[in-house]
Amino acid sequence: MDQKRILLIVGGGIAAYKALELTRLLRKAGVGVRPILTAAGAQFVTPLSLSALAEDRVYSDLFSLTDEAEMGHIELSRSADLAVVAPTTADLMAKLAHGHASDLASTTLLATDKPVLMAPAMNVRMWEHPATQRNLDQLRRDGVRFVGPEEGAMACGEYGQGRMAEPQAIFDAIMPLLGGAARPLAGKRVIVTAGPTAEPIDPVRLLTNRSSGKQGYAIASALAGLGADVTLVSGPTALPAPAGVRRVPVETAREMLAACEAALPADIAVCVAAVADWRPESAGTGKMKKGSGGPPQLTLVENPDILATLSKDSRRPRLVVGFAAETDDVEAHAAAKLEKKGCDWIVANDVSVEGTMGGDENAIAIVTRGGIERWERMAKGEVARRLAQRIAEELK
Ligand code: CTP
Repeated sequence: MDQKRILLIVGGGIAAYKALELTRLLRKAGVGVRPILTAAGAQFVTPLSLSALAEDRVYSDLFSLTDEAEMGHIELSRSADLAVVAPTTADLMAKLAHGHASDLASTTLLATDKPVLMAPAMNVRMWEHPATQRNLDQLRRDGVRFVGPEEGAMACGEYGQGRMAEPQAIFDAIMPLLGGAARPLAGKRVIVTAGPTAEPIDPVRLLTNRSSGKQGYAIASALAGLGADVTLVSGPTALPAPAGVRRVPVETAREMLAACEAALPADIAVCVAAVADWRPESAGTGKMKKGSGGPPQLTLVENPDILATLSKDSRRPRLVVGFAAETDDVEAHAAAKLEKKGCDWIVANDVSVEGTMGGDENAIAIVTRGGIERWERMAKGEVARRLAQRIAEELK
């Protein structure tokens, strides 16, 4: 990576502090960082901290005689292998989508002949605004790549999509673009199940659960990042398909099983989905009506167990990983599940901890026949990256 260089444009926003950590990660990996700090960005981080971490000077003025004498803005825009905008404000997106060149950042983005990666960060309403979404579509069509934004609590007190991706996730998105990502899982086929399943009671009612799909999606994305050929069999979620992953949307457990079987043979299966254990015996074709006889009695029947079925398939993947969502006796239940399902690892998590189900963090333990590995609490994205690395080591 020593010859690679990034042009890092730091826009305005509370997430600008994360650009410092990103700079540190890039420098540690031997990537050169040439920073451009917008006027708004300079309200949040100082040129001095950016410059110190980047070990380069910070550019910020379009009409600076000194800058132009040293390196003109056109040359600046070409001097890197990739332009990264982190944080990308709604304003920077709008400027590039419409071809404005009103300051150094927008001029450089317009003049560059290198790939551009944007890490948006803004209030959820601003992100969801039709104007921003139009700009996003336009920029994607123009070949701009995006990482994030993620869903979560925001500095402004609101909750939703708009939080900038974590520095490690931006770093992981940068590496393949620089041609420097390690791809230990290249050529390996992986099935990941994620999200809830939804079992119809009648045409308008469902039996489902609180799974958001975040952990499964993050794992699919991390495995793809290591070069794996990933099929993500997903129940209904609000998440966008991760880049480089084949997503097969399903609703019921039976559909999920069929999609997994269709994706065999595979080298690895990671069953993260919160599959409904039961489904109504028969889903009526018409909406159930309130009658005089009181509430209806639902007869439930057991769903197929996807993890157990994949574990005993004649084309069984070499490594089958299950998850166990438990509320008590987490590790003992996980060890029992390992035997019951016939898989190789159970990743156990305690869903009684507030914020785990549907939240952004997870504390897991990997239970194998050889013992238990306990991991400290961390972001789901980080759990995914470490788990993908751990899987790659196992398959070496
Ligand atoms: N699983 C599956 N198919 C099912 C049920 C569960 O593939 N029909 C998988 C999940 O994806 C997860 C693992 O089995 O990897 C354990 O899921 P969990 O809900 O914790 O366990 P259950 O088997 O449902 O057992 P219990 O509800 O009794 O804890």
